[in-house]
Amino acid sequence: MFKINTDSKYSRILNDEKEKERAKMHSFHRYYGKLIPAIPSAFIQEFTQKGDWVFDPFTGSGTTAVESKKLQRNFLGVEINPLSAEIARVKTTSLDIELLETVNNEIIRKIEEDRRDYSDHEKPYITNREHWFKEFVQEDLLKIQKNINEYFAMTDKIDCGEIDQYRNFYLIVLSAIIKNASNADTRHVFPGVSKRMRALEAEGKINIDVLGSYKRALKSRTQMFDIYENKNSAVEIIEGDSSLIDLKEYSNKMDLIVTNPPYISSVRYIETLKLEMYWLEEIKSPEEYKKLGDKMIGNDRLHKHEYETIGHTGYKEINDIIDMMQAIDKKSAKIIEKYFKDMEKVIINMSGLLKENKKAVLKISDSKMKRQKIETGKLLTIIAEANGFKLKDVFLDKINNNSRTLTTYRNTYSDIITHDYIVIWEKMNVR
Ligand SMILES: C[S@@+](CC[C@H](N)C(=O)[O-])C[C@H]1O[C@@H](n2cnc3c(N)ncnc32)[C@H](O)[C@@H]1O
Repeated sequence: MFKINTDSKYSRILNDEKEKERAKMHSFHRYYGKLIPAIPSAFIQEFTQKGDWVFDPFTGSGTTAVESKKLQRNFLGVEINPLSAEIARVKTTSLDIELLETVNNEIIRKIEEDRRDYSDHEKPYITNREHWFKEFVQEDLLKIQKNINEYFAMTDKIDCGEIDQYRNFYLIVLSAIIKNASNADTRHVFPGVSKRMRALEAEGKINIDVLGSYKRALKSRTQMFDIYENKNSAVEIIEGDSSLIDLKEYSNKMDLIVTNPPYISSVRYIETLKLEMYWLEEIKSPEEYKKLGDKMIGNDRLHKHEYETIGHTGYKEINDIIDMMQAIDKKSAKIIEKYFKDMEKVIINMSGLLKENKKAVLKISDSKMKRQKIETGKLLTIIAEANGFKLKDVFLDKINNNSRTLTTYRNTYSDIITHDYIVIWEKMNVR
């Protein structure tokens, strides 16, 4: 029975955790749909010991990963977006602060002394590049990027085996300032040049200083690495599709799962990061962009031929919703069918990885499509119960003020959200 527990001890544990100060590492890079760190932090402490393994099939920018490493647990994660996976990896690498400070100075000096003319250099492909970036911004971004790559091609300050980790830190810090340096309104989830930005531009109030922002970003990000006491915990972040990936080598190895799955038909995560992904050449063409977007669970970009025939799942409650939706809108019915079929595969993977009696904690949101409520939390729990889990607890999570941008976005764009739940499943004993 999926019944909200209004007196959950886990809700109290989480609320206590929310009062505590959070690691600055969580603000390394803007990311929409981030978990609040108190969620992994509270449940890692409640359900695991030091040295245990924590898994997140939707790693995103690595909130669960950071909290796992900080609390000296090992972490395994899967993430389909290569940029997100890299952000999460950088945030969870124990980089040496003193070494970073030295390299920061050297790279900045190199950039400042660089007198090359970048106007004719080839820039990364981005559809409508001129619309998104002023010419001088493109040149400055390119100059920083070139100098980072040149520096790491010749430095002897860093061990060979660690060069990539350090270089990626510099590239991900660059990624972190790209939206601010672009013409896009940073208040919007999806990149767009808003009326507000045009008005500010007309009043001469936009003052982009790419190198200045980069220097400040390097300084603040460098200091974030003081949180990892034990540098030995393992962090493995695999770029892949959680519904298809074969994780047999990790069977029955995980002690806890903490994740927030994508919503149905909601955030086009890829679009929120498109400027950064194009600039860092994680995607190089509209075709690549589309291909990756199509693989993301919950995506709502379907072609007509894809929803000509609507199928069913192995679950009556989900099929009833698919049928109800089919009468209203075929495309939405297909999105629902696809979402639950994909999530079923992820849940089977989760179940295979988790040790018996161990917990999976999920933050899930119900959705609305075509004004119909989809009780995602309840429906995913039905799938979980058919695949080795039992429901341990479910309670409502208060949306905190910090996530107001996302809340506004949800209401404006996707008509989503009635509730955010925390659902706790327990892996059953199979014997
Ligand atoms: C709600 S976000 C997770 C955010 C993360 N907890 C954080 O704090 O940054 C969901 C993530 O799922 C990823 N994703 C979507 N489809 C996926 C798939 N098939 N396999 C793995 N990851 C996927 C998206 O790229 C997105 O980063």
